[in-house]
Amino acid sequence: MIFLKTDEEIELMRIADTITAKALAEVAKLVAPGVSTYELDKRAEEFIRDNGAEPNFLNYAGYPASICASVNDVVVHGIPSKDIILKEGDIISVDCGAVKDGFHGDSCYTFPVGDISPEVMRLCKTTKEALYKGIEMAIPGNRLGDIGATIQQHCEAQGYGVVREMTGHGIGRAMHEDPEVLNYGKRGNGTKLKNGMCIAIEPMITMGDRNIYFENDGWTTRTVDHKPAAHYEHSVAIHHGKVDILSSFEYIKEVLGDRFI
Ligand code: MF3
Ligand code: CO
Repeated sequence: MIFLKTDEEIELMRIADTITAKALAEVAKLVAPGVSTYELDKRAEEFIRDNGAEPNFLNYAGYPASICASVNDVVVHGIPSKDIILKEGDIISVDCGAVKDGFHGDSCYTFPVGDISPEVMRLCKTTKEALYKGIEMAIPGNRLGDIGATIQQHCEAQGYGVVREMTGHGIGRAMHEDPEVLNYGKRGNGTKLKNGMCIAIEPMITMGDRNIYFENDGWTTRTVDHKPAAHYEHSVAIHHGKVDILSSFEYIKEVLGDRFI
């Protein structure tokens, strides 16, 4: 069942998503060769709590951290660890969320660590473009298939893989609500979008084969061919006939300056 949100509820979601966006910017300040993903997690958690919110990933279905820190061939749900040290040329997708006053924020950004290869840079740029092209389709009267097909076409045209096993989702009083927001599909298919819907759109795109496997920790997912994957996510509200992006990469942009992808 899809819960439609009022304008007041959407403003509360914007607060949770703004804290999430700023927490990602705090992480951006630390991303560098030699830093562990554990340190990134601790900073995000501290920032979220200092802003009167709670990290919503922590203890979600037993998840042990406040961010997912997914390096290179890890597609999603990389568990932060003191043993995972970033090195020049890596990419790291940091997925983060906060809950405040009963509403959830959720956003993800893939950061380069130092200088990265032009091939991997193109993967990141294409994935982020796909996210914004998908968001443009999130208007009342369009259907979920319009979002999925747009993301899929943009990425597959570049020869990339669209991960099927994980999807975007509705968001609100729960981090994961209906509907599922696929990153592939057919135009004109699927649930019709309406004012009041809030969804997280999150393409997970691979440089090679789109197939993934789950590691024994029950969380970490990797590409089968060990090529890198990128992941960008915004939470958006559909209201007043338009799409309103509740999370933001602007704070990350302020931190990264001309290193912003
Ligand atoms: N926030 C992720 C998503 O985009 C899910 C994180 S799973 C968790 O849907 F267990 F880490 F919380
Ligand atoms: Co999400």
